[in-house]
Amino acid sequence: MEISQASEEDRRGIYRLYEQFNQDREESGAGRLGFKYLDGDSPWAEELTDDECVTLVAREKNIVLGFITIRIPRFNPFRKIKKLGEVDLIVVERKLRRRSIGTNLFKKAVKLLKGKHVSHVLLNVKVGNKAAHSFWKKMKFKPMTESIYERKDGVEEGLIYMIKKI
Ligand SMILES: CC(C)(COP(=O)(O)OP(=O)(O)OC[C@H]1O[C@@H](n2cnc3c(N)ncnc32)[C@H](O)[C@@H]1OP(=O)(O)O)[C@@H](O)C(=O)NCCC(=O)NCCS
Repeated sequence: MEISQASEEDRRGIYRLYEQFNQDREESGAGRLGFKYLDGDSPWAEELTDDECVTLVAREKNIVLGFITIRIPRFNPFRKIKKLGEVDLIVVERKLRRRSIGTNLFKKAVKLLKGKHVSHVLLNVKVGNKAAHSFWKKMKFKPMTESIYERKDGVEEGLIYMIKKI
């Protein structure tokens, strides 16, 4: 397995996993998320720069096994945090979970973020996404705060924000 930045050839594989992510959401009663966030140019940025997303892909024989999308937000709202990075989304192929692919993707993302002098990584997890909670806890993220937002269909969804110093 190799992990490197996503290229155009990975697009279909990433979409396939994104579709699995949406199926998981539907099964848990949450609504689907649009592909909007993958359709723009930004996840395909070649370099991690402020306010652009970079996607790292784990692949074997050109098959995408998982991906992680990270960003450095241009605006950092936390005074005590020197430089903030964010994980937008991580998804590992359903059949291949619990084989450390997620861990390896995250480790590689941290390397990239550290190279850009990021001091802390922020992310949010939907309340009830137990696998993700356990995963981020294992990656040594600490819960920071909780929020509720109203989706377009009027359903309220809870999010837990988690942070880690890298
Ligand atoms: C979260 C996710 C990316 C983890 O990927 P993964 O490759 O399975 O993770 P790893 O194998 O590296 O797991 C590392 C550790 O995290 C914890 N963990 C991961 N999945 C878990 C689960 N389903 N239940 C309990 N603990 C879990 C375990 O401690 C695990 O170590 P172990 O297997 O030695 O016990 C994967 O479950 C996934 O794609 N989920 C669907 C998409 C999603 O919800 N993404 C998160 C959005 S914030």
